[in-house]
Amino acid sequence: MSAATDKKGATGGGLSGWFRKRFPWDQLMEDHVTGYYAPKNFNWWYVFGSLALLALIIQIVTGIFLTMSYKPSAAEAFGSVEYIMRDVEWGWLIRYMHSTGASMFFVVVYLHMFRALLYGSYQKPRELVWIFGMLIYLVMSAEAFFGYLLPWGQMSYWGAQVIVSLFGAIPVIGEGLVEFIRGDYFISDVTLNRFFALHVIALPIVLLGLVVAHILALHEVGSNNPDGVDIKEKKGPDGRPLDGIPFHPYHTAKDVPAWVVFAMVFAIIVFFAPEMGGYFLEHANFEPANPLKTPEHIAPVWYFTPFYAILRAVPDKLGGVLAMGAAMFMLFLLPWLDRSPVRSIRYKGPLFKLALTLFIISFVMLGWLGLQPATSLYTILARVFAIIYFAFFLLMPFYSKIDKTKTPPPRVTYHG
Ligand code: HEM
Repeated sequence: MSAATDKKGATGGGLSGWFRKRFPWDQLMEDHVTGYYAPKNFNWWYVFGSLALLALIIQIVTGIFLTMSYKPSAAEAFGSVEYIMRDVEWGWLIRYMHSTGASMFFVVVYLHMFRALLYGSYQKPRELVWIFGMLIYLVMSAEAFFGYLLPWGQMSYWGAQVIVSLFGAIPVIGEGLVEFIRGDYFISDVTLNRFFALHVIALPIVLLGLVVAHILALHEVGSNNPDGVDIKEKKGPDGRPLDGIPFHPYHTAKDVPAWVVFAMVFAIIVFFAPEMGGYFLEHANFEPANPLKTPEHIAPVWYFTPFYAILRAVPDKLGGVLAMGAAMFMLFLLPWLDRSPVRSIRYKGPLFKLALTLFIISFVMLGWLGLQPATSLYTILARVFAIIYFAFFLLMPFYSKIDKTKTPPPRVTYHG
């Protein structure tokens, strides 16, 4: 040990030494980056966690710059967004990065969640990692909803009108609650102001806190992997998992190329198709909000449409709201519904594989149906797929238990 090294092993020279003695930087890096042992058999499904972090950073940074020129008032909001697009230096890029970024964030997070379904990452002992993840998903959804009102276009206005009025279906308190949310008798300047406050301050703080909790919970129990085998059970003489490697540099070396690929896809969309044919930014939102003119067809942005289709599939308003809430709630229960003795899809039986395939088909179809007008044929289809959606969860305790699973290997499968 050199003279310049203190008892924690931190080198003591210069500014960095001064800093280290006063802040546990080394310890934090050791616990969560260089000394965090993650399974060596991660595949590309495991890049979406760090991509979600990148997407979050993009939203925060572009959001800060948008806020510098945006005006949160009903009279000026729409015009200020046009001003950002036309007159603010690089404003068009910042705005399109933020609006496209929101959709990309959901693409990444949906794939991240699907990975957890594939490999049983929600199962014991990662229940809390999953619950924090689901809370993140709910807060992200609220964040996107509040953000969509801000440009004060036709779809901002009428989308908010439809969603806020849903709370009116709640017996007794419904009407009062709707007024409380809007802060007025209709969606107005007051509503815009409070949605702005929630979008730029309240929810981002909650989101960041939840992301920290999500990662801390994960690092407490350790990452799952494509085999679903617990790497902590086989340790070497040094106490390190035999199938684990330090997160940095071995996994960061794979995450960085994933960030580059993401940046390329992101740039192509931002530069060549920022509205994505109306899926990322709806056409009606290029018209200023007009409380006297209801758009012909009101649909939420694509990432909400599976739940919107479930809402519309039920003829009764309160029933629809409850069904939509239940559809989200089911996801929270996943760790306790899956009774399979194995985690990964690699060792699960045909019943689980069939159920997961039907679930994904139903989720995608509901997403598509939520974008279509509610004709009688589409409503029937939405009911069929909603039943499949719920059956996936409600029947899981049975089919996951009786399914013919394979025995997982004692150690992870890895072909270096
Ligand atoms: C802002 C959004 C999110 C961020 C930044 C984030 C970040 C991360 C990171 C960095 C990891 C470790 C790397 C990896 O396993 O991919 C991770 C793991 C995980 N996340 Fe998330 N996450 C987010 C949202 C979610 C959501 C919405 C869910 C589910 C509802 C979720 C569920 C999980 C699970 C179960 C794991 C453990 C996976 C395993 O070990 O196999 N996350 N997350």
